[in-house]
Amino acid sequence: MFRSKISGLGYYVPENVVTNDDLSKLMDTNHEWIVERTGIHERRHKALEEDTTSGMGVKAARIAMERAGVEAKDIDFVVFATLSPDYYFPGPGVLLQRDLGLNNVAALDIRAQCSGFIYALSIADQYIKTGMYKTVLVVGSEVHSAGLDMTTRGRGVSVIFGDGAGAAVLTRSENENQGLLSTHIHSQGEHAEELSLLAPGMGGRWVTDILKDNDPDDISYTPYMNGQFVFKNAVVRFSEVINEGLEANGLQVSDINMLIPHQANLRISQFIQQKFGLSDDQVFNNIQKYGNTTAASVPIALTEAWESGKIKEGDLVVLAAFGSGFTWGSVVIRW
Ligand code: COA
Repeated sequence: MFRSKISGLGYYVPENVVTNDDLSKLMDTNHEWIVERTGIHERRHKALEEDTTSGMGVKAARIAMERAGVEAKDIDFVVFATLSPDYYFPGPGVLLQRDLGLNNVAALDIRAQCSGFIYALSIADQYIKTGMYKTVLVVGSEVHSAGLDMTTRGRGVSVIFGDGAGAAVLTRSENENQGLLSTHIHSQGEHAEELSLLAPGMGGRWVTDILKDNDPDDISYTPYMNGQFVFKNAVVRFSEVINEGLEANGLQVSDINMLIPHQANLRISQFIQQKFGLSDDQVFNNIQKYGNTTAASVPIALTEAWESGKIKEGDLVVLAAFGSGFTWGSVVIRW
């Protein structure tokens, strides 16, 4: 078995900064409420025509590839995580494969929402471990702003989410002690509808139904979130899956140099930090600037933490996420 490692990281966010005050002009909300409940000060919304899910993924991927020192011809496989694809089908993986000029390699789309990047890393890791692929491009990208209900009706959801993309290049590690030590992924479909976007869907309401009914009270095509239920489940699952990762490797909480939690809500991160007794230097948060960017949040945070020198060679880095599905997971990395 081989070991995979992250050889390059990159992220891209649209230039359009949307503050809490901007949102309060569209809906009944205010800066104080949003900061107190979520920690978010601002988020990005798509600005340019090319700020599509695949387009932003391409920009993040180019940076990650340059830093990894790999070219388009070197990529063996693409794993792309998103809940906001450019098209209903095909998924954004093939659009990115085309736009980056990659060989005709497989492009796999992952639908695991906020845990999408963790799932994607886990899949990429398996292919590298077996020796089937040497270089895998893993991308998480979201354009939430196009699908949110930006009225008071949608305020419980729309103030939280933002647009952005992050990418990582995984390669075979030359050093068996360095790289991804283990990945752990889970789901619980019992709570599928507690954080969901129900339409359009073949099992429920399709676009033609929505257009035909033209019902202003129909909320099936904007995201729904049972916020408090999600919160309660998130803190439990985050804790479980971080512990699972540590135990699998015979490690202790005190071994963690950097925890990168999915940026769901600053209060969730702070709860986990407190529960594990970690210092401010051991947990990275940037939700204040970007909101919750779902599949992009872990790679954006990981890239920023690495760029700012907060992750050094030999560090133990733990990534963890929880989200719609419910899905959750962790990745333990010796950097
Ligand atoms: N601005 C102002 N008021 C708002 C608001 C907003 N953006 N959104 C909701 N409210 C109001 C509600 O209508 C409610 O009013 P009421 O008491 O008059 O009915 C009140 O604030 C409290 O709402 P509630 O939903 O109970 O607030 P909360 O403390 O649970 O905070 C969340 C809401 C969404 C911030 C919180 O539940 C949360 O963060 N959940 C987890 C979300 C998450 O992490 N999701 C991503 C997972 S991947």
